[in-house]
This record gives sequence, structure tokens and C-alpha cells, in this order.
Amino acid sequence: MKIMPMPQDLPEPVLTPNAKTVLSKRYLRKGDDGQPLEDFKTMFWRVAASVAGEEDKYQESSYNSLDLGRSFYQLLVEGKFLPNSPTLMNAGTDLGQLAACFVLPVGDSMDEIFDSIKNAALIHKSGGGTGFSFSRLRPKDSRVGSTGGIASGPLSFLKIFNTATEQVKQGGTRRGANMGILRVDHPDIMDFIRAKERDGELNNFNLSVALTEKFMQSVESGSDYSLTAPQNNQETERLNAREVFSLLVHKAWESGDPGIIFLDRINKDNPTPGLGEMESTNPCGEQPLLPYEACNLGSINLDRFYSPTAEGGIDWEGLREAVHLSVRFLDNVIDLSRYPLERITEMVHKTRKIGLGVMGFADLLFQLRVAYDSHRGLQLGEKIMEFVQRESRSASRILAQERGPFPEYEHSIYARQNLGPYRNATTTTIAPTGTLSIIAGCSSGIEPIFALSFTRQVLDGERLLEVNPHLEEALKNTRSYSDKLMEDVAKKGSIKQMEHLDQDLRDVFVTAMDVPAQYHLKMQAAFQKYTDNAVSKTVNLPFDATQEDVWQIYWMAYEMGCKGVTVYRDGCRAEQVLSTQDGE
Ligand code: CDP
Repeated sequence: MKIMPMPQDLPEPVLTPNAKTVLSKRYLRKGDDGQPLEDFKTMFWRVAASVAGEEDKYQESSYNSLDLGRSFYQLLVEGKFLPNSPTLMNAGTDLGQLAACFVLPVGDSMDEIFDSIKNAALIHKSGGGTGFSFSRLRPKDSRVGSTGGIASGPLSFLKIFNTATEQVKQGGTRRGANMGILRVDHPDIMDFIRAKERDGELNNFNLSVALTEKFMQSVESGSDYSLTAPQNNQETERLNAREVFSLLVHKAWESGDPGIIFLDRINKDNPTPGLGEMESTNPCGEQPLLPYEACNLGSINLDRFYSPTAEGGIDWEGLREAVHLSVRFLDNVIDLSRYPLERITEMVHKTRKIGLGVMGFADLLFQLRVAYDSHRGLQLGEKIMEFVQRESRSASRILAQERGPFPEYEHSIYARQNLGPYRNATTTTIAPTGTLSIIAGCSSGIEPIFALSFTRQVLDGERLLEVNPHLEEALKNTRSYSDKLMEDVAKKGSIKQMEHLDQDLRDVFVTAMDVPAQYHLKMQAAFQKYTDNAVSKTVNLPFDATQEDVWQIYWMAYEMGCKGVTVYRDGCRAEQVLSTQDGE
């Protein structure tokens, strides 16, 4: 692929040592001998220039592609915005698949099941993650017409998907990630809820149970609900909704698996119901999609928009500019990307969904000296996301004027509501930013930081040590600062219990475990209020949390309008992604 030549006067990227490690291992293009073919600067230019190059297709564009390439480059190397990993890895390369999220249908026949496995393998190979609903598959032990035999059911097929994934490395570098969904009214639901009981089982899948409004009402009233066989819509059994909900709570308390999604709520926000129903999300849950749809994500690093002299300490003007550029970037990515299947290309071009979100929120709160678990913290989360949502829609409207609305617009909910034409059926999603946050050197997504100082286990077991820079700076300005103090912080990961430090600092510099579970959930709901798609968030609970606590969180998530919820009780699984030194 031809890329505009790199101007000589571009600034060098500013990267932390950890960012350099991750980029070198996974993102720089390599030759057959494993040696890098590019450095950090040429990598960022490859991405910026190839995405900006799409601009030339549009005569009405107010940008020329070289200037736009420079603006994109600047945005990336200043760590203000990063697109999802596949875009960083593959933009401007022969592979050219740039989206992180896909949903594939799984039909109730051998042909359709194995087509889906093959298509998933192609997507994983290209760097994307896949979500599937297994709800259309007939339950185990039902009759199979053609042979008179007995069906093996969704769970046994899930295992085949899992094994296939095991053998395909994503983009040649990481193993594929999957989401498996089953409706709560599927006859095999009890087996599904218990599917990950044994350690290591289905380890390439996140599982979520799709809860319906009807089911939630039955939980509330304590009544029974029906399980229905999908192949003939016949009721097979009735279960007590509270007992099933209790089991879900118990399993989430025990191991964090499965999660739950609120399916009817997701479909209420489906912008293009004429194209079908949403039945699954991407692997980490933040992006509900129609079958064969894909979406590319990108995240703005809020930490970079702290400005002590601006209103409320936030550079709103700079943020507005970054949102507008990022939306243009993500819209260009849709066309630049080459999808592994023609049907996916067709779907993606019909709805043109993008998912702009934020990362570095906890770091911004540190700089503003606002506690995550406070009313002000919640208000700020809501205000920032309202701003990002409004500006991203305004950017999408400007693009619609230049390039036309997304083709399904006339049949979308926006046309019915008389909301101006948009270029994109959705604009906002809060991604986990697992690797992006390392590259940008900030806290991930909207999560509080895991620990003020910790070793991060990434890249197949390699460990990276990180100390939060804002805490280090704040402590340097106190009388208590010493090497011994920093060692203590590294050991404990939290300063909440350090009584010799100022109360203000102890209130502001909180970690995920210091934040009460209710506040985790309230923050998720605050961001969801202004997010088109969904919000990736883990509600952390202490080891001694009870099942009653999990029940309450689930119920709050339902009542506060979240689209799903994931809880994690500290220490309930042997292998954790992040650990403080104490926990090693
Ligand atoms: O930070 P990065 O862009 O690598 O990814 P993320 O924000 O942590 O995850 C966003 C989405 O990327 C996930 O929901 C998946 O759809 C996909 N993903 C994947 O396919 N495989 C992974 N190992 C990680 C993420």
C-alpha cells in the first residue's frame, strides 16, 4: 500500500519505557527475520498517513490529506488519542484489517456452525475479536431431523469454537478473544451458567447470560418463567427466576463468570432495528453489534486535557478539537479497513458504527484532586461523557454533510426522531483499553487505577513495574516524602490506610479496591448515560464480599440503566492480570 512520504519535521513520539516495550514486541512491523522494519516515528506516520489518505476520496472535504496526516500524527504521538490495536498494527499494511470488534451469527445447522468457526478463525488471524450468540442452537438431546440422531447442544459446540481459537494467533501475535452469549430462556441455560466451573475450561471465551426484561420482572415478583426450544418455540420447562438469578450471582461471586447483559435494553438502543436484532457483544462486552457487523474503536486520553488555568481544570476547547479529529479518523478507518468477509464489508458500510471513548479518567481525577468515589467524581464523569457524546455527534453530522449519512440512516431511529443525519449509526463506546493505556501511559478506560504502584503482567508472562506519576509528584511536595515511603507504597499498592499522610491525599489517590462497589457501578452508569454503545467496567469487590453484595450490584445495574455488568471479587481466581508486589 502506498503511503504519503513522511515530512522531515515531525516531532519524535514521547513514550514511556513500558510503551516502547509493548510497541516493539507487538506493533512495529517486522521482517521475515523478526527484525523491525520501522521505528516508533515511522509506525505512527504509517497509521496517521494511511488513515488521512482516505480523505482524498471526498471532494467536499475541508482538509487536504497531508495536513490531516500531520494533525493525526500529532494527536497520536502526544498520546491524546489512540485507535484500537488492529488499526495501530495493520493500517497501511497488506493485511489492512483495522477493527477490534465483530459479531457472527451461529445458525442451527452443521453448515452454519462450522462456517461460523471458520469465519471466526479468519477474523482472529486478522487481529479482531468475535462475539457469538449460541441461542439459536437447539438444546442438547433434542432430535436432529436428517439423521434421527440426538443434538449435542450449544455447550459442546462452544468447546469446538474454543479449541479452534486456541490454534489461531490473533494477527500472528496474540490468541483470539471471544464472547459467548446464551439467552436466559434457552433450555440449556443451567449448564451454560456452570460452564466455566472447572479452571481453564473455555479459557478463550468470556461468557455472558442475556437477561430479558420478562425474566427480570419474574425475578422481582418471584415467579417462574419458561424455557423455550429455539427450533420450534415450544416451552420445555419452567424455572423459578429467583433461583436462576441466585445461581448467576453465586457463580459471579465464586469466579467472576459468567457476566450478564440486559438484552432488551441493548435492543431498545439498536439504531437500525430494520437490519435485525442485536444478539451479542464483542469479547469484552462494550460493543453490541448485529450479526456480521464490525466496529472500530478509539480512545481519548483525558489525562492529557488537564489544564490548571482552564474552567474546572479541563481544556474543553482542546478536547473538542480532539473529539472532532478522532471521529474523522475513525470514519476514515471504516473505508480503509479490509474485512475478512464480503458480508461484513456490506454490513459495516451500511451502519458505519464507530466507538469513540475515553481512557486516563482516573489520572485526570488525580490531577484535579477529585476523589473517584465522590459525588463530584460522578458528576465530572457524566459531564465529560456528555461533552464527548455531544461533540462526537456534531462531528458525525459535519461528516454527513460532506460525505452523506450512513446508508441505513433513512430506516434508522434517528430519522424517525428527526435527529439530523449522522455519518455513523453510533459514535461512542467505552473500551477497556488494556494495551492502549500502556502505550498512552495512562489509567485504563474509566477504571480507577488497580494499584498506585504495581507490576503489570503482559505479553505472555513478562512483567512491567509502574508507579503512578501523579502520586509521585504529589508526595514529593509533602514533608513525608522519602525512599522508604515509596517502597511502602510499592509494597501495599494503596495509601488509604497510611495515617501519617494527609487525609486529602488519601481520599483522592484511591485504587480499584479502595473504591466501594456501589461507586464502581454508579460511575459505570454515569458514563453509560452518554454512551451509544456500552461501557467496559469491572465492579471490584473485596475478598470478603458476600453473595448478597453481588445481588445488590446486579440489581443496581439493572435499575440504573447499565447494559451489562461484570463483577470481580478480589482473589477469587488463581491468575490475575494485575498484581501488587504484596500479591506476588
Ligand atoms: O487496548 P486494545 O486496543 O488492545 O484493546 P481493548 O480496549 O482492551 O479491547 C477492545 C476490544 O478489542 C475487545 O473488546 C475485543 O473486541 C478486542 N480484543 C481482542 O480481540 N483480543 C484481545 N486480546 C484484546 C482485545
